[in-house]
Amino acid sequence: MQLYLDSANLEHINHAASLGIISGVTTNPSLLAKEDPSVDVRDRIKEIYALVGGHLSVEVVSTDADGMLKEADEILSWFPEATIKIPMIPAGLTATRKLADQDIPVNMTLIFSPTQALAANNAGATYVSVFMGRLDDIAHNSVQVIEDTREIWDMQGLNSLILAASIRHPLHIQEAARAGADISTVPYKALMQSLKHPLTDKGLDAFLADYHKMQEEIAKLKA
Ligand code: E4P
Repeated sequence: MQLYLDSANLEHINHAASLGIISGVTTNPSLLAKEDPSVDVRDRIKEIYALVGGHLSVEVVSTDADGMLKEADEILSWFPEATIKIPMIPAGLTATRKLADQDIPVNMTLIFSPTQALAANNAGATYVSVFMGRLDDIAHNSVQVIEDTREIWDMQGLNSLILAASIRHPLHIQEAARAGADISTVPYKALMQSLKHPLTDKGLDAFLADYHKMQEEIAKLKA
């Protein structure tokens, strides 16, 4: 399962990219709104693109198909490899089909059920973003939704990539991988948490302490 970073923060994206473990970035209007408002959205997106290259999803804010397509044109003028992120509403399906027919990748977002994912796939979406955290928030088993979607995909031979989104903690990453998601888009905090284990830190401290002790003993012998 590939990892994407779910962020519009340049520092976080730069750091995660430097680790060599992320294959893309997803943004949304709420993530962009958390950042410095004096920086134009187009400039911020271009800066993110400069850091990570393609596989960067940028979301439209129109709710009608023509508006979405107009925004998609604008985003593609910023960088031609853009993935256009489109909400899972009927107008979004129309816009997705039109973009897919021109081989423009679409990340269909705000998906909460396998039937929504199926419609997004049939409209030609490259990615279907299933929101785990927000499903769990309403006491709906998000892992089951990913598992069911995977099962349907495999049975039917469907092509869209299943992208686990709305990740809140490392267990979501693990469960998304176990349930067969192709990609998980992860906020910076959860990504960094997922890399840490107290026994790693304890083990490293012990190795380094032993190494320094050995160096001191060698130095004493040479003195
Ligand atoms: C998906 O691409 C969205 O940007 C994101 O995962 C939403 O997550 P949230 O529920 O934490 O806002």
